[in-house]
Amino acid sequence: MGNCWLYFGVILLSCQVVRSQRVRVLPEVEAYPNESVDLRCQFANPGSTKLTQVSWIFEATEGQRENIAVFHPVYGESFPTSAFRGRVQFTQPSLEYPSIRINNVKMSDAGRYTCEYATYPSGNEQGTTTLIMLAKPKNSAAAVTVQAGSAKVVVARCEALQGKPAATITWLAGGGGEYNSTSQMESDGTVTVKSEYRMAPASADNGRDISCVITQRTQDRPQTFTMKLAVQYAPTVRIEGYDENWYVGRTDALLTCHTDANPKVLNVTWTTVSGNLPPTVRVDQNRLLVQKVDESVNTTFVCEAKNSLGSGKSQLTASVIGVRDTRCVCLVERLIKEQMTYLKIKKTPHCFNI
Ligand SMILES: *[C@@H]1O[C@H](CO)[C@@H](O)[C@H](O)[C@H]1NC(C)=O
Ligand SMILES: *[C@@H]1O[C@H](CO)[C@@H](O)[C@H](O)[C@H]1NC(C)=O
Ligand SMILES: *[C@@H]1O[C@H](CO)[C@@H](O)[C@H](O)[C@H]1NC(C)=O
Ligand SMILES: *[C@@H]1O[C@H](CO)[C@@H](O)[C@H](O)[C@H]1NC(C)=O
Repeated sequence: MGNCWLYFGVILLSCQVVRSQRVRVLPEVEAYPNESVDLRCQFANPGSTKLTQVSWIFEATEGQRENIAVFHPVYGESFPTSAFRGRVQFTQPSLEYPSIRINNVKMSDAGRYTCEYATYPSGNEQGTTTLIMLAKPKNSAAAVTVQAGSAKVVVARCEALQGKPAATITWLAGGGGEYNSTSQMESDGTVTVKSEYRMAPASADNGRDISCVITQRTQDRPQTFTMKLAVQYAPTVRIEGYDENWYVGRTDALLTCHTDANPKVLNVTWTTVSGNLPPTVRVDQNRLLVQKVDESVNTTFVCEAKNSLGSGKSQLTASVIGVRDTRCVCLVERLIKEQMTYLKIKKTPHCFNI
């Protein structure tokens, strides 16, 4: 009564009982919680076989058989005490079409449902439908604010709560990172999947996009969450604007302190290595304006920036060209040209002909 295969020396018994094909059921049915689901069953071509009674057996896990509905042509319908009582009914009580409807299905209803006939003379014949309970996961994702550093830390999280079947989470991010995921079975039979992306965050990663992709059977398409990495770092500082042409008497010299920091710089301060600022300069936020170049600005300026993580500084040495009179400069240049000698004197744009 069966086909048995000999395969690679292992005896695999694939004994398909030909008789069972007469009990027709769907192999698989899917449902969401609170829906009603119909489990169809039919005994095809009974011929001379006499159908005595039909039962529906539920198996949440293999081997745990529970009788949930019985139909007998004389004694009628019976619903033994089970988690289904009150929710299960025959749609059209008969031996030929003993389909049942289960109302208000729960995640715990997932499992195998066997439509089992007692027949004469061939004994029991059956067909099994697997009820797959589905649940849309609640998906979310968030970047984690971290401080720049060389250790790998969690920079983003992504989760799919209470899905069935379990969701799959993958990440799209530039190199250098890695991720792991954990699945946790919930008491209602759904699965919560959480994933973390780890990397050693550099200040340059701040604001960079990172995406996680959640794939799950109940979704038409994968859901993508794109986040911006949030990396905090102490300020880096750079002084700009020095043109190496601070001659005595110049009035429009300007230094600018550029900072880069996350969170934003709270405070930019200008000092000199020797302490206080010369009296001829004025500070306007990150700018240092030299009102009049003289010996007092022949010094090293320091710009320091602070944020909540720390501070950064940069310094610049200005060398004042020791000339008091632009006319002298022109004179000196003219002399040099004439002598074809190169003397280390900076160019002076404010040179008037004399
Ligand atoms: C199912 O119904 C119950 C109570 O009627 C409700 O609390 C629950 O949220 C429903 N579940 C779904 C997935 O709609
Ligand atoms: C990832 O792995 C780390 C270390 O093994 C573990 O502490 C963490 O819980 C894991 N996270 C997830 C979401 O799987
Ligand atoms: C910046 O810092 C200096 C000294 O640390 C302080 O005197 C000044 O009030 C601060 N300015 C701001 C805007 O916080
Ligand atoms: C500026 O300082 C340098 C060295 O500190 C010195 O050699 C130069 O003479 C100074 N210039 C003026 C105009 O004081």
